[in-house]
Amino acid sequence: MTLAYENHKYLEVMCFLNDISERFPDAISLASGRPVKGLLDVNAAGDYIKVFAEHYANKTEKSTSAVLSLINQYGSTAGIINDIVSEYLLQIELVECEEDNILLTNGAQESMAICLTSLFTEGDVLLALDPAYVGITGLAKINNIDIQYVSASPRGLDIEKVKEAIENCKRSGLRAKAIYLVPDFYNPIGPSMTLEQRVAIIELCKREGIYILEDSPYRQFRFEGRDIPSMFSIDDEGWVIYLGTFSKTLSPGVRMGYLLHKSSSHQQVTRDMPSLISEFTKVKSFISVNTSQIAQAIVGGYLLSAGGSLKNALNTVCNEYKVRRDTLDTRLLKNTLKNISWFTPEGGFFISLRCPFEFKEEDALICAKEYGVIAVPLSFFSESSQFNNYIRLSYSYASLENLETGIDRLSNFLRDNLYNAAN
Ligand SMILES: Cc1ncc(COP(=O)(O)O)c(C=O)c1O
Repeated sequence: MTLAYENHKYLEVMCFLNDISERFPDAISLASGRPVKGLLDVNAAGDYIKVFAEHYANKTEKSTSAVLSLINQYGSTAGIINDIVSEYLLQIELVECEEDNILLTNGAQESMAICLTSLFTEGDVLLALDPAYVGITGLAKINNIDIQYVSASPRGLDIEKVKEAIENCKRSGLRAKAIYLVPDFYNPIGPSMTLEQRVAIIELCKREGIYILEDSPYRQFRFEGRDIPSMFSIDDEGWVIYLGTFSKTLSPGVRMGYLLHKSSSHQQVTRDMPSLISEFTKVKSFISVNTSQIAQAIVGGYLLSAGGSLKNALNTVCNEYKVRRDTLDTRLLKNTLKNISWFTPEGGFFISLRCPFEFKEEDALICAKEYGVIAVPLSFFSESSQFNNYIRLSYSYASLENLETGIDRLSNFLRDNLYNAAN
């Protein structure tokens, strides 16, 4: 059978991350970026739907039962809770965006699919950091979109390297069309871009005519340090496209995200060339028709019910993650093996260990099977070999006790199998 894309091993990573806990149910997972518990209570889903139905009935001058029938149907591709999401963005993510500039999607993953499908033509290249979140690089690969990697370090991104990557594209007769960035608590290695880096990248992309895909699922999980404005808020010329999600805050089970873009002067919005959000909406209609209106009603009703208390609820969850990060950090210090180092991020879900030896897929499998802990090789997120010595650990999901036991087990595995051989 011939596939439309090269069947690269890299494309199995997403399934590996989703399935490994089921393969080793007794192992402690420090692998996936699952939230510990979303704010959404599934038991109350019916109540949230009613709250939303009343809101929408008032807004559209329909009866509540007419709204309930409408929710149960195919619906508007752009979404039906855009006004509520606009308010949420302002209050919680400190991002200003009018409802007409919001497209509701089936999670950030669908937003990525919409962006790549809408923007890329032959000869266009996606710039991505190495290592990068596999959701975007895998998607580019199955769409046969060329990727130019910009090597990153646990300290973050080097603008000069982005410039080099743009020049490389030009020299090959190609065009850098967009750069994918996770500026807040970058999955997989954890640091955030500074304000200066954000401004410099936006200036560079403006000059070069390159879109920025700002994916920000961890923005709400800052434990310390000052908030840094989103690139979307800094940009006033429409170069930044924002990919948000409710997966980490409310629930990954609702599969809901939001794609934001504000048109500006470089993008002449005319009858023949409407706004980018309208184009994205057309493309989405051929990918998923519309985002489940039942799921939207649940999320919309939850946000309306939580109202002003949402910030406090998120702060409570955020504090839980801080305790988890600290627990992991302390346990790592306690188990310290010489020459293993790590960068402790000010937020987000992940810490990466730098080891004096390689940690490969087969090591991860032995570690899960024989030592009862699941950790992810950072090489899963990289095309080069420069991250073969790194291990990504997530502290978002395991209990405090399991985090401690998990680190003890990982240390035992490393000591028994890899560490002594390398020292
Ligand atoms: C950087 C990044 N982007 C996007 C996603 C997926 O978001 P969603 O569940 O909204 O598709 C994740 C999930 O782990 C992620 O880490």
